[in-house]
Amino acid sequence: MKPQELVKDIFDVGIIDWTMQDFHGFYTPHGVTYNSYLIMAEKICLIDTVKAVYSGEFLDNIKKIIDPKKIDCIIINHVEPDHSGSMPAIAAACPNAKFYISRQGKGEAIEHYGDIFDFEVVKAGDSLSLGNKTLQFIPVPMLHWPDSMITYLVEDKILFSNDAFGQHYCTSKRFDDEVDTGILYYEVKKYFANILLPYAKLIGNALKTVNKLDLQLIAPGHGCIWRSHIKELLAKYEEWGKGTKSSKLIIVYDTMWGGTEAMARAITRGASSAGITVKLFRYDNVNKSDIAAELLTAGGILFGSPTQNSGMMPNLGGLFTYLKGLKPIGKKAAAFGTLGWSGGAQKDMEEFMIKAGLEVETGYNCKWRPRSEEILTAEQFGYDFAQKLK
Ligand code: FEO
Repeated sequence: MKPQELVKDIFDVGIIDWTMQDFHGFYTPHGVTYNSYLIMAEKICLIDTVKAVYSGEFLDNIKKIIDPKKIDCIIINHVEPDHSGSMPAIAAACPNAKFYISRQGKGEAIEHYGDIFDFEVVKAGDSLSLGNKTLQFIPVPMLHWPDSMITYLVEDKILFSNDAFGQHYCTSKRFDDEVDTGILYYEVKKYFANILLPYAKLIGNALKTVNKLDLQLIAPGHGCIWRSHIKELLAKYEEWGKGTKSSKLIIVYDTMWGGTEAMARAITRGASSAGITVKLFRYDNVNKSDIAAELLTAGGILFGSPTQNSGMMPNLGGLFTYLKGLKPIGKKAAAFGTLGWSGGAQKDMEEFMIKAGLEVETGYNCKWRPRSEEILTAEQFGYDFAQKLK
């Protein structure tokens, strides 16, 4: 079966990894795609490659359209191995092709695969003529690595955006208006929260350039291709890059003998009674990547843990370490939980919250198991915290 022609002379030759559920710790229940595009212009051009393990299937996709020896140009927008893993296989199959890459990308590619490619380094403002079509290169360093760039196809008004605007969502349909938009928007939010959030301050500058482009399609390196919701997508990126203002509250807890869980439920009732949206998660049955996604569009987060061995329960340490790397923007936070004799969980959690850049508010704890009056106090704590988010 021939790969799908997205618009005239431009084909989707990437790979759909339907059963991939864990992308280096990022939970991907809808699988992962490694998108690559073949432009059949007067000069034939391949945009990005795919994960190494799929090199054979990738080359088969290309061969259904053209003999790889006829490919003239290969654009490497980003060297992370999900996009570059097939570079060695492609270099061997396309002996007449030159690789176009950023200066940082060239160094990274040589470090990964050896000095085996015919590179031409490109920079901001450079363009490449494919004869009847023109590519323009736009560096977007740190979105997602120092090498990252995006490539604009002028005549067809297509932005090949690599990681930017991606989502981990496999479907047999390729366009945003052909799929479940609820899943699509959740997955693009989750992708931003887990991959791009540490570099959110750079999004604004990239958007200034992207907003000036006349766009018919945004064709990312992962997931569906945007053609009907481009304006909404750009508005979401603008909002997330600045930090979403919201009264939504996320509550995440772990529990030993149920005391902190009872407290978490009471806090949830109290916060809900203030009229805000509240989401409660027990950390041992939710993935940190979903917490990050929920937090992106929340105004605050509460962490609950009983004290165990003078500190918080160790599971939560993984979540805090993860959030410290993501650096959420402008979120209020507090800690709660139960303690037996010495305490220590609250101090532990507050120290981690500070490291994650959260705005720490006064928390709440009680000894052993919350009794009826302490449950009422926990409800009030939830209500009062909700007021701070309004
Ligand atoms: Fe999809 Fe940064 O790689």
